[in-house]
Formats: sequence, structure tokens, C-alpha cells
Amino acid sequence: MNKKICITGASKGIGLAEAKLLSKENELVLHASKKDSFKDITIENAHLFGHDFTQLENIDVFVKELQEKTESLDILVNNAGLMFIEKFSDFPDKDIHTLLTLNLHAQLLVTKKLIPLLLKSKDPHIIFMSSMSAKNRIIGESVYAATKAGIMQFAHVLRNELAGKIRVSTIHSWGVNTWNDTEGAEILTPENIAETLEFIISRKRPFLVESIDLGHEAHWNGAVAPWSPEV
Ligand SMILES: NC(=O)c1ccc[n+]([C@@H]2O[C@H](COP(=O)([O-])OP(=O)(O)OC[C@H]3O[C@@H](n4cnc5c(N)ncnc54)[C@H](OP(=O)(O)O)[C@@H]3O)[C@@H](O)[C@H]2O)c1
Repeated sequence: MNKKICITGASKGIGLAEAKLLSKENELVLHASKKDSFKDITIENAHLFGHDFTQLENIDVFVKELQEKTESLDILVNNAGLMFIEKFSDFPDKDIHTLLTLNLHAQLLVTKKLIPLLLKSKDPHIIFMSSMSAKNRIIGESVYAATKAGIMQFAHVLRNELAGKIRVSTIHSWGVNTWNDTEGAEILTPENIAETLEFIISRKRPFLVESIDLGHEAHWNGAVAPWSPEV
């Protein structure tokens, strides 16, 4: 492909799998909360950056540092995000703030500030890592779901605003084994998300994957209700 691809949250889990898959043929800009997070990782063709995006002023610092390395970007993968699960009435205020800031506010600002670099590409593309939480009603995920539903709807509008200039896609996934469960958990792997990303960004214009839902055959998906017949 030979593209310049920026991936946030690239030091582990889904972002790292994406970086590993795409590093062979592309130039990568990889971001994590601190540069040290990459210390045990070797990825070819990568510029490494680290800033805590819950401190929103760090986004300007990142963009400035990035502009010193490159004037353009082909692809932005907004992947950095955290998940905290808690009954809403017990949700610590600081965790609500962290989730809203990192999963939503920071992704909007990173996108806004990198659009000028993307507009210098012949075929720019922005991908948001949302979640099936955005479309479901899972108890304990109220705040996380709010951030992912926010990203989903933001991406829908942005896609229309940028139509004909920058393609915008959203990935919604059920659970992904990013905690190295070795006990045979039947859920998606980070590599499944990486191969989906590769599929999305390698489609030729004007084909656009607007939004894609990813699941596992054996996933519970909330599909069995107490009144469901046995199948
Ligand atoms: N895992 C799932 O089941 C699942 C399912 C659907 C959607 N998703 C979404 O997929 C994305 C990646 O999830 P994951 O499970 O791969 O996450 P992960 O393994 O926990 O990795 C999170 C990444 O985000 C970075 N990050 C964390 N806090 C940050 C901060 N304050 N500032 C900047 N970067 C920060 C981390 O950097 P450090 O290493 O420096 O902390 C790391 O690179 C998230 O948006 C998540 O909501 C995950």
C-alpha cells in the first residue's frame, strides 16, 4: 500500500496488532500514552510518540512533533481508548472524566488537528475504533457506551461533511482478547480487528466501508433471553 498511517493506542492490544500487520508495507506514526510503552516492541518503519491524551493540551504538542516529521498523512486510526465497568451510581467521578476525555474528546481533537495533514493526501481515510457497546445496553458499560455511541454518531456526520475529500469508517466490535486470555475464551483476537482495518483501508475509491460490526460465532451477543426457545 505504501501509505503514511497514524495509529493511536498502538503500544498494545488492537493498535499493536494493527501496527504489526501494516508495518511491512507502510510508514507508521504510532502513539501511546508514553513513549516508554514501546520500549519492548520492535516495529519497522515506525515513528514513535507518547503523550497522555487525557491532558488535552498534549494533543497540540503531539501534532507539532508530528509535523516536524511529516507534512501529510494518508490514514488516521483513532484507536486509543479505555474501558471501565461499574454500576453507574458507583462510578467514580474521575473515571467518568477519563473515559469521556480519552475515548471521545481527545479523538475529536486529534481528528480536527490532523485533518489539514490528511487533506494533503490523494486518498485520505479516517477510521474510528468504536464498539458494539455503542449499539447495545450492557449493564455496567453506561459511560463506555456513551463514549462509543458518541464516536459512532460523530463519525456519521463527519463522513457526510468530508464526503469526496476524506473517507470516514467506523469499526464496531464485540469483545476482543486484548488481555491474553489463555483459557480458550471464544472471542475475537486483536489480529481479527487488524485484518478488518487492512480490508477497509485497501478498498479503492469510491467504495467506502462506512461502518462494520464484528462478532464471534460463539459469542453470547446478549441473544438468549429467558423466554428464548432452545435452538
Ligand atoms: N478490547 C476489546 O474488547 C474492545 C472491543 C471493542 C472496542 N475496543 C476499543 O478498541 C480500542 C483499543 O482497545 P484495546 O483493548 O486494544 O486497548 P488496550 O490494550 O488497553 O490499549 C490501549 C491503548 O491506548 C493507549 N492509551 C491508554 N491511555 C491513554 C492515554 N491517557 N493517552 C494516550 N493513549 C492512551 C495505551 O497506551 P499505553 O500502553 O501507553 O497505556 C494503549 O496503546 C479502544 O478504543 C477500545 O475501546 C476494544
